[in-house]
Amino acid sequence: MDISTLNSNYYELCQKFNLSDPNILRKFTHGLDTASCCFSLASSKFFDKNDREFIYAVGLLHDIGRMIQWKRFASFSDTKTKPHEILGVEFLQNNKFMQEKWIERFFKTKKEQNLAIKLIEHHTNEYDGKDKLMNKFMPILRDGDNYANLKYTATGLQRLWLKNDGVTPSVLAKFRLRQNLHGTTLHTKLDRILQFLSRTYAITHNILKRDLLARKYINTIYDVYHKFLTQEDDELLYKECWNLKRELAQEVQKHDEVKKLAESGIIS
Ligand SMILES: [Fe+2]
Repeated sequence: MDISTLNSNYYELCQKFNLSDPNILRKFTHGLDTASCCFSLASSKFFDKNDREFIYAVGLLHDIGRMIQWKRFASFSDTKTKPHEILGVEFLQNNKFMQEKWIERFFKTKKEQNLAIKLIEHHTNEYDGKDKLMNKFMPILRDGDNYANLKYTATGLQRLWLKNDGVTPSVLAKFRLRQNLHGTTLHTKLDRILQFLSRTYAITHNILKRDLLARKYINTIYDVYHKFLTQEDDELLYKECWNLKRELAQEVQKHDEVKKLAESGIIS
C-alpha cells in the first residue's frame, strides 16, 4: 500500500483519539518517526517497494496500544494497566464498530496482517526467533523505535518524572553491561537518564550508530538533562556518556574495516 494512503489511514485512525492531548500527540508523532526510520533502514537494505511499505505501516501502528492505554487508563504503565502491545493488537483486530478491521485498512493480504500483528505483539518482548520473516523485519522495527525515541529524547521534552538524586547500583550495573533497561524499576533522575541512553546500545544497524554519532545525540541528551543533577551525578553521567560514545565509535570503525576487507576480497 502506498505511503500516502497509509498516512491518511493512520491520521483517520488517530482522530479516534484526542490529538490535542500532548500525550496522544506525542505517540502520534512517534508512530510517524518510527515509520520513517524503518522505511530508510529497509531502503538501505535494498528491500523491495512492498517490503518497504509493509515495515513503514508496522512502524506507524506499533505503539497504537499506547493511545488506547492513555485513553482508557490515563497511564502508560504496562504493569499497572495492560501491556500496550496487547491493547494494540486487540484494537487492530477489532471490528466492533465498523465493517472492516483497522488491520485490513493497512495490510491487504492475510499473510501481511498476521505478520504485522506478530511484530507489534512482540516488538518489546522476546519471541522464539524461528520465523524467517519475523527475523527479517523485527530488527528494523526495533531499531526504528529506539532511534525515534532517542530523537525525541534529544529534544529535551522527555519527562524525568523522578525526583531523587543518586543512582541505583543495579540500574548502573545493568547499564554498564549494556542490558535492556526497559521495564527496570527506576528510583532516581539519573536512573531515568541512563534508561534514555540505553536505547543507543540497543541499536543494531551500523548506519544508525553512525548517524547517532554524527548528529551528536548522546551529547545533546547529556546537555539537556545533566542540569537536573547534582555535581556528583553529573560527573558520573558525563563519564558514562563518554564511554558510550567511544564504544559506538569503535563499533562503527570495526564494522567499516570488516566491510572494506570483505569488499577487497581478503575475507569473505
Ligand atoms: Fe515505540
